Amino acid sequence: MNPGSAPRYSIGFTSLLDEVSSVPLSVTGIVPPGLVGTMYRIGPGRFQIGGHCVGHWLDGFAFLSSVTFGSHGATCSNRFLASSWYRRALTKDAVPAGGFDSQSIHRCSHLSDDNANMNITHWRHELEALGDTPQSILIDPATLATIRTRRWAHLHRCCASSPHPVFDQLTGERFDLSLCNRDPAGYVITVTSPEGRTRRLCAIPSSRLGYMHSFSVTPRWVILIEGPFTAYPRSLSSSRRPYLRNYVWDAGQGSRVLVVDRRTGALKATLSTRPLFALHHINAWDDGDQIIVDLAAYPDPSILDSLAFDHGEVPAGDFPAPLATRLIIDLEHKRVLCSPLRCPPGEFCTIDVRFSMRPHTILFAAGPTRTGEPIDRLCRSDVTTGRFIAWSSDNCFPGAPIFVPATTDGPEGEGWLLAIVLDVLAKRSFALILDAATMTEQARAWLPCALPFGLHALFVSEEATT
Ligand SMILES: [Fe+2]
Repeated sequence: MNPGSAPRYSIGFTSLLDEVSSVPLSVTGIVPPGLVGTMYRIGPGRFQIGGHCVGHWLDGFAFLSSVTFGSHGATCSNRFLASSWYRRALTKDAVPAGGFDSQSIHRCSHLSDDNANMNITHWRHELEALGDTPQSILIDPATLATIRTRRWAHLHRCCASSPHPVFDQLTGERFDLSLCNRDPAGYVITVTSPEGRTRRLCAIPSSRLGYMHSFSVTPRWVILIEGPFTAYPRSLSSSRRPYLRNYVWDAGQGSRVLVVDRRTGALKATLSTRPLFALHHINAWDDGDQIIVDLAAYPDPSILDSLAFDHGEVPAGDFPAPLATRLIIDLEHKRVLCSPLRCPPGEFCTIDVRFSMRPHTILFAAGPTRTGEPIDRLCRSDVTTGRFIAWSSDNCFPGAPIFVPATTDGPEGEGWLLAIVLDVLAKRSFALILDAATMTEQARAWLPCALPFGLHALFVSEEATT
């Protein structure tokens, strides 16, 4: 980047303050008649308050957007989450201390951060936004109004949580992972039944705690991959550093692979593999005495540094992209084989959810055409052959793709791929609908504004809400 010039994608890091409700959208192309429901997308949406800028993209205030498709056409809404974090900011007209990577001067403040801007889930008819603390926000799916902050009573000693609970499509159970920093320090895994009863599956003591953004569950096991990006447990709640800055990267330590028996909660194995940093697990399944775990692996955690705001300036580029990577965990021989999958680099990898916890062939991801550039294309890869098809469009930056199967029993990867795309030339975003089998464009539903870059997205079919 030339000194003094803003990158052309800087509008994606710009605050959007306008909240809208059920605005009709103009559509180019044809929305498939079978696509009936609402797409939700969460992410940071406001980066300045009271004349001050947050220190990191992930400290932007949580902003939820939705696009609803139905017989009436397409409409959109967007709204800030009324978290206690955001309400405190508005009251004080200042960025609260103790965010993800904004300057902290008060101890423990990140633990009270309910700025749930990282992920959005729909389970047991509840729409829930999650961040990296044991607090989440329940949302009205129709109005996007905040209902309340959920604080799990049994996690009162936990200082961080994965924003990616795992849902077992077969049993209806939900698995959560949290980091506990005392009595004893370690990892806590909980299971919630389809009826809503939560129990602690296990607590795994650990003298250091890894940065755990996600984890895997198979029909038999729960698998944690602890990269060598770890923190002293007590520092996570008592240091005066920003939360992120408590973690230290030490490639010489390699990664730990923790395998927990899903039925008993017993720690079955602790194995090691090469140093890697992963935000997102993709899928995992059992294969005899082996466990297969696919995840998106970076060589180090520099992606987090690349998203910091430097004295209020938007991130200036050099964004690393992860490689989808397969870990074969051999429980009999106590070893882990690690190799990249045959597909282009990309984040927000997603599969056909009908293949969750069993072998999949098709992988969708959002990635850069050129190394170090922001995400500017969507790819569908066949990981067995390495063949991939990409969608891209001039001046357009897509976010996380969502796959929606066209039928319940159709072939893997047949359906639609949805994503919110920012057109930086038009200064508008649109909801993109692709034929997921061919990656050909079906429709664009144009939003009235340019949405800032987001994180995860979700599609909830109309029948799932009735
Ligand atoms: Fe995530």
